Amino acid sequence: MSLSFLTTAEEIRLQTAALVAQGRRLALVPTMGCLHAGHLALVEAARKRAEVVALSIFVNPIQFGQGEDFGRYPRQLEEDTRICERAGVDWLYAPTAEQVYPPGFQTYVTCEALSQPLCGQSRPTHFRGVATVVCKLLALFRPAWAVFGEKDFQQLCLICAMNRDLGLGAEVVGVPTVREGDGLALSSRNKLLSMEERKQATALFRALSTAKQRCCQGERSAPFLIEEARQSLLQAGIRTDYIAIVDGATLQPVERIEAEGARMLIAGFAGTTRLIDNMVLSPT
Ligand code: PAJ
Repeated sequence: MSLSFLTTAEEIRLQTAALVAQGRRLALVPTMGCLHAGHLALVEAARKRAEVVALSIFVNPIQFGQGEDFGRYPRQLEEDTRICERAGVDWLYAPTAEQVYPPGFQTYVTCEALSQPLCGQSRPTHFRGVATVVCKLLALFRPAWAVFGEKDFQQLCLICAMNRDLGLGAEVVGVPTVREGDGLALSSRNKLLSMEERKQATALFRALSTAKQRCCQGERSAPFLIEEARQSLLQAGIRTDYIAIVDGATLQPVERIEAEGARMLIAGFAGTTRLIDNMVLSPT
């Protein structure tokens, strides 16, 4: 099957109904575009499961706060279209803001507890924007699978909860983070980094890896590991937003790393660009 552009909700309803009639299943990969190998790992996970893969590209205005980088977020729809063709995406959906949020739009989805901590502290409206747009996409496409990256771990947890709570009926699939050779997690925002900031940005991966290593050697104190990570980010010139060690299911902080699934999450600024990353710490 070659790549088709789906442009209207009506067309999507017709196409998805035809799929159901043929007994074929759909996997959806929501993105904001400027596609990289991280996104392509999601497409691969989708292709492994479903007969048809849809990818959406939409730089969602309502998940950016005032003064955030909505205006300078990188956009490259032509290049992304070629990338989708090569990657074997079947349907591409790149709606306009007016299509997604027509005049009179007033219904938002809030995931209560999971949107409060971590990124929710410095970006209070971010997850409402994410949950609303992902809910709209799941309602429109009704995919059997919806594929997301562990790179945005809080987002993944929140989407799992929303999908369950609202009975949206998709199976949410989480894909491990794809990294550059030096460990930096791939992100569309990496394009915004100067050469100097690009070097500084590897500090997030280094801090996470050190914490994991200490944990494997028997260190159990979360405050100790957080302080060590804070020092290493400071030395690298990264301005820390937060460093936390949380239970991977509830996102609640843990004091001692005993249970499986404890994760360290970091958000920090290289220059004016906000970067996030995370890693499982608990010994397996
Ligand atoms: P975006 O940042 O474009 O990311 C789209 C998807 O790709 C997300 O699920 C994200 O976790 C995943 N991803 C990004 N970098 C990755 C990497 N290095 N390795 C693996 N997966 C990676 O996240 C969003 O867009 C938006 O918030 C969205 C969910 C589309 C809602 O607007």
